[in-house]
Amino acid sequence: MRQIGRCRAHTNIALIKYWGKRNNDLFLPMNSSLSLTLDAFYTDTSVTLDSNLEMDEFFLNGMKQDKDETKKISRFLDLFRQTANSDVHAKIESYNHVPTAAGLASSASAFAALAGAANTAWQLNLDKQTLSTYARRGSGSSTRSIYGGLVEWNMGEGDISESSYAIEIDDASWDIGMIVIAINKNKKKLSSRIGMKLTVDTSPFYPVWVTEAKNDLIAMKEAIKQKDFIKLGEITESNGMKMHATMLGATPPISYWEPDSVKAINKVKEIRNNGIPCYVTMDAGPNVKVLCRQSQMSDILDKLKESFTNDQLICSAVGEGIKQLTDTEWSY
Ligand code: DP6
Repeated sequence: MRQIGRCRAHTNIALIKYWGKRNNDLFLPMNSSLSLTLDAFYTDTSVTLDSNLEMDEFFLNGMKQDKDETKKISRFLDLFRQTANSDVHAKIESYNHVPTAAGLASSASAFAALAGAANTAWQLNLDKQTLSTYARRGSGSSTRSIYGGLVEWNMGEGDISESSYAIEIDDASWDIGMIVIAINKNKKKLSSRIGMKLTVDTSPFYPVWVTEAKNDLIAMKEAIKQKDFIKLGEITESNGMKMHATMLGATPPISYWEPDSVKAINKVKEIRNNGIPCYVTMDAGPNVKVLCRQSQMSDILDKLKESFTNDQLICSAVGEGIKQLTDTEWSY
């Protein structure tokens, strides 16, 4: 038996951050979050079911992965095997399309693409909302990469896995874009998974973070309804800073920042003070992401080039949700 599923998923950047789980096994978050899907960064993945295989095989960018990496993928695919009542193994091939300088290899696009491909391979026909709950079990942020545009990940209730899913709340087709300032492409020192757990367990600021994130989400959804870019940007910047402030309160303190992250933040402020609205956000690494109007991207880029090299600056339009790839679209 050979059945194939092939899927593309784009990465996403949270404007209201997810930072902490209430249930570590089920990847249930402490707060709802909201993100923008990016066109410039994506993962293509194929899942080929093969009854001759005795275990799953996982290839990333053409290279066969070791047992530990393969095990993570196998455990994730077990969710699909259970649903399909199948015990067949699969060959998984994944290609990350992330400019090498960016160091943005993202678990968000990876598990969303894998979920989309597995759904087709096992012919499960799960709808997108359900698929987002499956993607969540690979990595929280991938819940949101099932959809394009502006996406809300609803935290859900209690320990009910099906209640915590993503939905697209707006297509973000009102002049929105993002510039990634790549500060450092090295692998991050502390994974988000460990960093967020340490923050939940030890930061005295954590309860305040949860309250703030809830309020920021309400205000941001209102700004989106009004298509108010300035408000969207202000809340984005403030929410990201509050997440990093909460981590600094952990024991030991967590900081993903580097000197050049501060340089980037100050440069963006300077551009903004000179009249072009643009706002920063950062995740579990030193790179700085700049939310801006798509139509003003090239002006902002010119200014950023005064401080950063061309290959450190990557522009992205708004990305779409997961998409099945046909034989001809699969070009590897
Ligand atoms: C800072 O989704 O990578 O990017 O669920 O443990 O896999 P796991 O964590 P992950 O965390 C993302 C954290 C963040 C904020 C966000 O994307 O919301």
